[in-house]
Amino acid sequence: MAEIAAAAPAPMLDLIDRRSSTRKFADVAITDEQRAAVLHAATRAPSAGAMMMYSIIDIQRQETLDRLSVLCDNQPFIAKAKWALVFVVDYCKWIDLFEHAGCFADEFVQKTGRSARRTCGLGDFAIAAQDAVIAAQTAVIAAEAVGLGSCYIGDIVENAEEVGKLLGLPAHTMPLSMLVFGVPHKERPATPHPVENLVMSERYRRADAAIMDAQIAEMDAMFRPHATEAGARVVDIYTRKHTSDFMAEMNRSMEQWFANWSAEEKA
Ligand SMILES: Cc1cc2nc3c(=O)[nH]c(=O)nc-3n(C[C@H](O)[C@H](O)[C@H](O)COP(=O)(O)O)c2cc1C
Repeated sequence: MAEIAAAAPAPMLDLIDRRSSTRKFADVAITDEQRAAVLHAATRAPSAGAMMMYSIIDIQRQETLDRLSVLCDNQPFIAKAKWALVFVVDYCKWIDLFEHAGCFADEFVQKTGRSARRTCGLGDFAIAAQDAVIAAQTAVIAAEAVGLGSCYIGDIVENAEEVGKLLGLPAHTMPLSMLVFGVPHKERPATPHPVENLVMSERYRRADAAIMDAQIAEMDAMFRPHATEAGARVVDIYTRKHTSDFMAEMNRSMEQWFANWSAEEKA
């Protein structure tokens, strides 16, 4: 059998290894070529059935960045980014296409035996959300490749009512991921990522005390000097994230987004 020449993996793997979130940007403009490369790469991400169940909102206006920096849990660095992309999970465009192609017309329903319009469910969401997030992460890697740093903004799912108005989001959409971009102010070392209890062989394996102790030891070692006592990082996450006001707002707001996702279609 002919030997397949091994691809040169090093540059791509190095890029993935070196990436870290950028929250401080140099005052350097992003070029049209950089923007085009990032957007093109996003469109090359895998997509369930190639249905492209997402839309990318390209944000360059300062007033929009300013407003998002407040609505996304008051994070001032968002306003200092040169560019933001919001990855919207989007089934609205398919509902519109179905309508446009006559799928909801009585004649079509009678001919095909397909029931008339239905709303979007969690199954639709499961695949569309993956489309959106994969496109976002592909944009992250492409940005690194063209010299741009990026940072996800999970808080884009907060304040559904105001974000929905600001971005003009219709029924059957949800802004799941946001990225901010810019030339990094300076290189920073990669953030440590704990890996204990991450990969499980063949079946899910719930952690026992020994595994949890290993997880805690790894995290405490990585996040020293912040973690001064055993388990300090777990307690920090509990108080600063799990029981935080922003997480309560995210949970409230996501209820709104799910209601918007599955809003009944008006015939
Ligand atoms: C879904 C998601 C949401 C995030 N939201 C925020 C955010 O709102 N603000 C922020 O500063 N960083 C945010 N981050 C960045 C993470 O804090 C960062 O990825 C993590 O600390 C690991 O560091 P690294 O990206 O430098 O490897 C988010 C990352 C992800 C994946």
